[in-house]
Amino acid sequence: MKQGDKQTDENKLFVGIDLGTSRSSISASNNTREWTESYVGWPKDFIAQQVVGKSVLFGAEALANRLSLDLCRPLEHGVIKEGISRNEEAVKDIIKHLIELAKPAEGQKIHAVVGVPADTLKVNKLAIRRAVAEAVDSLMVVTEPFAVAYGLNLLNNSLVIDIGAGTTDFCIMHGTIPTEDDQKTILTAGDYVDDQLFSYLIEKYPNARFNKNMVRQFKEEFSFVRDTAEEVFVEIPVDGKMVQHDIKNEIKRACESIMPALTETTIEMIARFDPEFQIKIKNNIVLAGGGSLIRGIREYLQDALKEYGQCKVTSVEDPLFAGSDGALKLAKDMPAKYWDPL
Ligand SMILES: Nc1ncnc2c1ncn2[C@@H]1O[C@H](COP(=O)(O)OP(=O)(O)OP(=O)(O)O)[C@@H](O)[C@H]1O
Ligand SMILES: [Mg+2]
Repeated sequence: MKQGDKQTDENKLFVGIDLGTSRSSISASNNTREWTESYVGWPKDFIAQQVVGKSVLFGAEALANRLSLDLCRPLEHGVIKEGISRNEEAVKDIIKHLIELAKPAEGQKIHAVVGVPADTLKVNKLAIRRAVAEAVDSLMVVTEPFAVAYGLNLLNNSLVIDIGAGTTDFCIMHGTIPTEDDQKTILTAGDYVDDQLFSYLIEKYPNARFNKNMVRQFKEEFSFVRDTAEEVFVEIPVDGKMVQHDIKNEIKRACESIMPALTETTIEMIARFDPEFQIKIKNNIVLAGGGSLIRGIREYLQDALKEYGQCKVTSVEDPLFAGSDGALKLAKDMPAKYWDPL
């Protein structure tokens, strides 16, 4: 290190940020770990400003006050819409908010590794960089599944499948930093399951009154593929009265609707490799992201892949923080030359 840019470890805070479509989290070298839903809301007018009492709201609080706010979910389809500055502004606000939650000490320089959905990185690396740059001192942007893989030490012969809200991201690790060819994104993920479930429920219970948010909550509570002995009933209002509804078949169908594309893409990704490596990768498939919490999904995928030979699928222990923990590990380990000083 040159003299003059010498920094002690105390005046650096390393942070790993997982910037997701639905949830974003931060893990920091001062041991804080926080998350927020990726919603940002600004008061619509001065009355709204007085009602909510703040100039910007995040996550659950923003959702709860949504009638008074211009609400924005900036990465909704996995990309910041270019030229729409509101989205970029929202990403900026989320990043600032997460860094505040990590409570940096006065004067600490922030060294951030930010994981974003693979397509976001491909489509608008610059927009992401601009949005993050203000809040940090050095930066590296990586894909979410790479951050997860790094955190779990899956650097060689593995396939990480990150089932998020907007996208499912695949990343093959073969002993180097993954390139675009090692990664693939498909759009069948959590939001898609919600859409399916919503339409199945409208069809089956045309008189029941529910919205997308309720449907997502039903899914998160009861999700499963294959079978479960449990019955699945939820309360939904009909003509203003709460009524029990059986939604077991619809939950199963909606959750299973993402499985064909998931299986197909897994096979396609692995098939590109030399047969010797294929066997190794097949035995080291790891599911991450909120979608990995669907009960039975690991077994489902493992069974579906069996006809292509022996394989082993596992799930990460802590899907909410696997991405940000991995990004933090990367931030701590990364040699100086990879950092982009801002
Ligand atoms: N128990 C659960 N069962 C099924 N799905 C769940 C469960 N818990 C969370 N999810 C879903 O996981 C998704 C969120 O996962 P995650 O936080 O990994 O996504 P993200 O990182 O925000 O999205 P992306 O990676 O697409 O940017 C949402 O669709 C959410 O409804
Ligand atoms: Mg994610």
